[in-house]
Amino acid sequence: MSEKDELKVKIKGKIRDLLAFSKLTKTREKKFEKASAKPIEKDNLKELAENLHPDYQHLIIDKIIDNTKSTKTFRFIPDSEFNEDLALFRAGQYLSLKVNVNGYEITRPYTISSSPSEALAGFYEISIKKEQNGFLTHFIWENWNVGTKVTSSGPQGLFYYQPLRDSRNIVAIAGGSGITAFRSIAKEISEGNLDINLTILYGCSEEDDILFYDELKRLESKNPGKIKLVIVLSCDEVSLEGCEMGFITSDLIEKYSDVKKDTYFICGPQLMYEFIDDEISKLKIQQDRIRKEMYGEIKGITKFPNYPKEKADKMFNIRVMIGSEIKEIPAKATETILVSMEKAKIAPPSSCRSGECGFCRSYLISGDIFVSPKSDGRREADKKFNFFHPCSSYPLSDLEIEVPRRK
Ligand code: FES
Repeated sequence: MSEKDELKVKIKGKIRDLLAFSKLTKTREKKFEKASAKPIEKDNLKELAENLHPDYQHLIIDKIIDNTKSTKTFRFIPDSEFNEDLALFRAGQYLSLKVNVNGYEITRPYTISSSPSEALAGFYEISIKKEQNGFLTHFIWENWNVGTKVTSSGPQGLFYYQPLRDSRNIVAIAGGSGITAFRSIAKEISEGNLDINLTILYGCSEEDDILFYDELKRLESKNPGKIKLVIVLSCDEVSLEGCEMGFITSDLIEKYSDVKKDTYFICGPQLMYEFIDDEISKLKIQQDRIRKEMYGEIKGITKFPNYPKEKADKMFNIRVMIGSEIKEIPAKATETILVSMEKAKIAPPSSCRSGECGFCRSYLISGDIFVSPKSDGRREADKKFNFFHPCSSYPLSDLEIEVPRRK
């Protein structure tokens, strides 16, 4: 097309747009007149959105599998009383489980360890490790049986493969029960629904702590070149063949991956993150190729260099406004504001408990807080206008806050 013709096409297009724009109001008025005045009774789009992203799911425990002496897998199916299908999810996402412990309502995020196609087949699996000092996991151990009803959120979280951003070669660095996300991803690959290559570096203290060993080995041999499992044991005596000894160091990461190209997914206990952060920094891997699962509530907030240590053993008073109610509650300096509220039987919305999802976003009317530097998910505007996340914030003085109501 000649330059002259191109110009003509452009001018015609502009005139057409201008004419359409000048008729816009009239066109809209005609459409309004024609439209029915009857209220919409069924909104298909809203229904679809609610099915894909439900606020709550009503589940029932169908099966409990003992994995190791300290870990069990709970299989959940939909509670037939509510006639709901399970929401679909991406391998690596979590559910926030709502548990009522002696009148206290507590939520905890747990990664889904089954695969997305198993949700289509009607179940989710969640594998829970009994923490030595974790009163919730002790409660679950003693009280959850086949038939127990549990409420969960819809699937949430951002710890999943994204083809536009991530390399097709994923290196999973897992510690302890952090393997659950990678079990889901490995199953998804094996079922033919995710076309990536997965190398799992799985660190455990002892052989007895390894989760899903036989299953992961089976997935590895069924998918040569696509799934590779490397067990790394830090104990002294080992009978397992072919494993690496010690910790997941920079040398080991380099041995099993291409540090210039691969994407690294990291999931494990907080102590492991600290160790791996140092090792990864030696390799100078670009930050956009490192993905980390949420930290959960920070254990030992006083260890951060900028935490004001003189506040550590103080107790404060928090004035909480929730809807039309106002409650005064005590709060320990070293406990998150969310935990203090839960202990006082106020249950604001929460999900990730890591400062990421924004469910607990609240307004700080007055007082000072310390925000965990490892889980500060506030937007710049939130910081400017005093919004904060109670799940990742600690009181440094008496506070007055306004929190949202749980739906
Ligand atoms: S619970 Fe997710 S940000 Fe607080």
